[in-house]
Amino acid sequence: MLEIKLNGEAVTLDADPAMPLLYAIRDLAQLTGTKFGCGMGLCGACTVHLDGQPIRSCVTPVSAAVGKSITTIEGLKVEQALHPVQQAWINNKVPQCGYCQSGQMMSAAALLATNSSPSDDDIDVAMQGNICRCGTYPRIRAAIKEAAS
Ligand code: FES
Repeated sequence: MLEIKLNGEAVTLDADPAMPLLYAIRDLAQLTGTKFGCGMGLCGACTVHLDGQPIRSCVTPVSAAVGKSITTIEGLKVEQALHPVQQAWINNKVPQCGYCQSGQMMSAAALLATNSSPSDDDIDVAMQGNICRCGTYPRIRAAIKEAAS
């Protein structure tokens, strides 16, 4: 048994320590907002926060989360209100197919937590690991700027 802190709550998981954190989140904790894309750390669909840092949960063993705090898209909201990034995503109608957007928002929120006024270059660097097949990048950038304002 492994105990992790998931979206502010202690959760005990019957997981092999080597199980990808993504599988533990989706299949054991039943939080399916975090998506499986490539499974190789290349697309960003599985991005969650580990102690506030964006990580690729598909290539992170669940054992790496023991004693740390994991936040998923379900836990991003602030006291029941949408996180500013989530609200900006709605306002800017960012998603097209939507599959990558949880990971996009997690990376955006991590960026804004450390940089409250990112430049276009800052956004491009922070978001370069999150791929969107629909090409929503202009709306992603606009939403991040709105959330920062
Ligand atoms: Fe983890 Fe693509 S599913 S980076």
